[in-house]
Amino acid sequence: MPVWMGIDVGTGGTRALILNLAGEVVASAAAGHPPIAMPRPLWAEQDARDWWRAAQAAIAAALRQAGVKGEEVQAIGLTGQMHGVVLLDAAGEVLGPSLIWCDQRTQPQVEALTAQVGAEQVLRHIANPLLTGFSAPKILWVRQNRPEEFRRARKFLLPKDYLRYRLTGVYASDVSDASGTGFFDVLARRWSAPMLEALELPPEFVPEVFESIAVTGQISAAAAAATGLRAGTPVVAGGGDQAAGAVGNGIVAAGLSSATLGTSGVLFAATDRPLADPHGRIHTFCHAVPGEWHVMGVTQAAGLSLRWVRDHLGEAERQAEAAGGGDAYDALCRHAEAAPPGSDGLFFLPYLMGERAPHLDPDARGGWIGLTASHTRAHLVRAVLEGVAYSLRDSLEIFRELGIPVREIRLSGGGARGEVWPRIQTDIYNAPCVLLASQEGAAYGAALLAMVGNGAYPSLAAACGRCLRIARRLQPNSAAAATYDAGYALYRDLYPRLESWFPRLRAAGS
Ligand code: XUL
Repeated sequence: MPVWMGIDVGTGGTRALILNLAGEVVASAAAGHPPIAMPRPLWAEQDARDWWRAAQAAIAAALRQAGVKGEEVQAIGLTGQMHGVVLLDAAGEVLGPSLIWCDQRTQPQVEALTAQVGAEQVLRHIANPLLTGFSAPKILWVRQNRPEEFRRARKFLLPKDYLRYRLTGVYASDVSDASGTGFFDVLARRWSAPMLEALELPPEFVPEVFESIAVTGQISAAAAAATGLRAGTPVVAGGGDQAAGAVGNGIVAAGLSSATLGTSGVLFAATDRPLADPHGRIHTFCHAVPGEWHVMGVTQAAGLSLRWVRDHLGEAERQAEAAGGGDAYDALCRHAEAAPPGSDGLFFLPYLMGERAPHLDPDARGGWIGLTASHTRAHLVRAVLEGVAYSLRDSLEIFRELGIPVREIRLSGGGARGEVWPRIQTDIYNAPCVLLASQEGAAYGAALLAMVGNGAYPSLAAACGRCLRIARRLQPNSAAAATYDAGYALYRDLYPRLESWFPRLRAAGS
C-alpha cells in the first residue's frame, strides 16, 4: 500500500505519522525528548542529538504499527519547532546545546544587532523586527558566550533540518522555517544578504532554502539501516511547525485562519501577499504553500502554562493518570468546569516564558491576579485556560486591526481536545470555530507536503480537499461571550499596568 510519512520534531517529543492517499492515519508513534534544560530563568536548551534519537525510535515504531515496509513509504515531509539554533562543525557534529524557540536570554544581542542595522532597515530586510526568540540573536549569543564552540562552527541548521541532515546527509531548509531566523528575506523568499553580512556569517554557513513541497534529498543507506525506511526515499523540504500545522488544518488560501494551542499558542492566517504589522507585534512569514505568506501571533506559554499547572498543582490528576485513570490534562480541564466563565473575576497572565504577541517583552512574567479566599483550584485552572485564550484574542484584535478577515477559526493542538478549552476559545474569540476530524497537528501537514511533493496530488488545496473532514462546528454562546468581552477589557489593561514593573523584577536579580 502506498503511504506517506510526516515527522515532527516537537518540544516534548518527536512524532512520526503515516497517512494513506485518502489522508487516513495509518500509524502515529512518538518518542519523548528529555525535559528542556533551563539552567537559568527564561533560558531553554535541548540537545539536537536527542531529537535524532527520538526520530529513529518514532519512525521505526510507526512502520511497525502500520505494518508497512519501508519500500511502501513514497515520500517524507519534515516539520518541527522553529527558531532553534543547531551549530555543526566541519564534520557535521553537533556543537553544544541548542538554544530553542522559547529561550529569552538574547535581549542585549537583539538591541545591538537592531542598532547596528537600523530598525527600519531590519524591517525592510526581513519584514519583521528582530526578536529574542529568533535564531539571529541566539547565534550572536553563542559567538559571544561560547567562543570556542563558535570558532569551530561551519553550519547553522534549524531543528527539523538537523533531522534532514541525519536522514539524507543534505543541508537544506524551507522558506517557512527560514522566515523565523531573522536573516531571511521574507518578501523575496531567500536568505537576506545584508543581514548575513551584519552577522558576519558567510553564505555557506546557512543551508540552501527550498519551497516546502520541493524534494531536497533521499534517505541515506545509514539512515535506512537506523530506521527501517528505504534508502532513496525522497524527503521534501517541509515547513516550520506552524506553517505545516496550518497546512494540516487546511489553512492553504487567504481568508482562512486557525488557533493552535501546543506548547506555544498561535493564531494563524494565510495571506496571498506579505502583510506586515507596522508595530511588528505579529510575525509575517512565508507560508508552506508555494508563493503564499502568512501572519501569526504567538503566545509563548499556552500548553506550557497548563503543563506547569499539571506538574505543580496537578498531583491528584498525575497520580490518577499513573494508576490508569486517564490523561491528567483532560482531568484538569474537566475540573475547570466547576468554575464559571470568567472564573469569578480571577485572571491569569500566561507570560511564563516572557511574551511575544502582542507585547514582544522577554521580561514579562506570568501569574494569577484577582485571587480571593472564595476561589478554588478549579478557578485557578479555568483562569489558566481563559488567560491563554485571552492572549490569543490579543492577536485576533491585531488581525482585525490589519483588516485580515477572520470568518471562522479552526482549532487544533491540545486546545482542541475535550469540551472545555474549545468552548472557552469559541466564546473568548467570539467567532465560529471548527474542529477537524484529524487532530494530528504539524506531522499531518508535513505528510501532505510530502504527498504533493511526490506528485500524489497536484496542489496542497487538492490534497486538503480530499483528506480533511470537519468533525464539529462551535458557535459562540452569547451570554458567555458577553462575560468574556468584559473580561477581555480587564485582561488587556493588566499588562500596561505591570509593564514597567517587570524590568524591576529582572534588575532585582530574578
Ligand atoms: C513559532 C514558535 C513555536 C515553536 C514551537 O514561532 O515559536 O510554534 O515553533 O512550537
